[in-house]
Amino acid sequence: MQSHDDDENIMDDVRCLFDANLSTIVKSFDFNDNVKNIQIEVAEDEDPGHYQSGIFLWPAAIALCHYFIRVQNVQELMKYKSLLELGAGTALVSMCYCKLLIMNQLVHLSHPNSKQQEFQCLITDRDETCLNLIQNSIKINNYTRFGDDWIQTQVLTYNNNNDIKNMQYDLLYGSDLIYSIQIASELLYTVKKLLNVKNKYAKFILCSSFRHQDTTKFIIDLCKQKLGLNYIMIQNEISQNGVIIEEFSLFCSTFEI
Ligand SMILES: C[S@@+](CC[C@H](N)C(=O)[O-])C[C@H]1O[C@@H](n2cnc3c(N)ncnc32)[C@H](O)[C@@H]1O
Repeated sequence: MQSHDDDENIMDDVRCLFDANLSTIVKSFDFNDNVKNIQIEVAEDEDPGHYQSGIFLWPAAIALCHYFIRVQNVQELMKYKSLLELGAGTALVSMCYCKLLIMNQLVHLSHPNSKQQEFQCLITDRDETCLNLIQNSIKINNYTRFGDDWIQTQVLTYNNNNDIKNMQYDLLYGSDLIYSIQIASELLYTVKKLLNVKNKYAKFILCSSFRHQDTTKFIIDLCKQKLGLNYIMIQNEISQNGVIIEEFSLFCSTFEI
């Protein structure tokens, strides 16, 4: 007999095929006077309905951009040389984070220097339609650099060991990724494997615009009892139609915002 999860997986596959035929446009985002004109290719229709499609822009992505702009000064940016976005969708967050690296002169696009080799950003999703849009957005923002793919895209499905072989990152992040307890568990098991054990600052930042209280309890228990991940609730404005921002790390956080 087919399980509920099997049904969900089939529906997801059908949705991905459907998404590939939706029309898209390029949209520009201004966050403040400095961080502006960040462009992404995104579905023309603004309402994703009840599907978790990544070709639409989800509210937590914008909130996570504002958060990173607020907290990631040069000192903070320097702590995280390898970046990984999970379930990126349109990858607005990565486009914004990379802009911060460029603005702070940690990555130089036209004048190569030794520092630029240090930063690498990998943008992932399980949906290839999203990855195609993201590759266009990287070009539209002029983030490509001759002879050096400092931003790359890759298919990554949570809990698929083939996708995450030998990969470890300093900073993982994602927005609006959790829509069931099952996916929360798969995501966090993957996060645990991907966090760089050699970097004491390594962490995963998750921003969510929807969340059931039971799911938050499940996540906290999972971190504590099974994964051994430190959990910090950085912000919780979900009851005022805002977002939850959470931090997960291997080691105790040395600072709190
Ligand atoms: C609600 S969308 C959020 C997209 C984007 N982060 C945003 O905030 O606009 C969820 C994203 O997670 C991706 N996703 C869903 N299940 C996944 C899985 N098991 N592994 C990897 N990505 C997944 C979807 O393809 C989609 O891009």
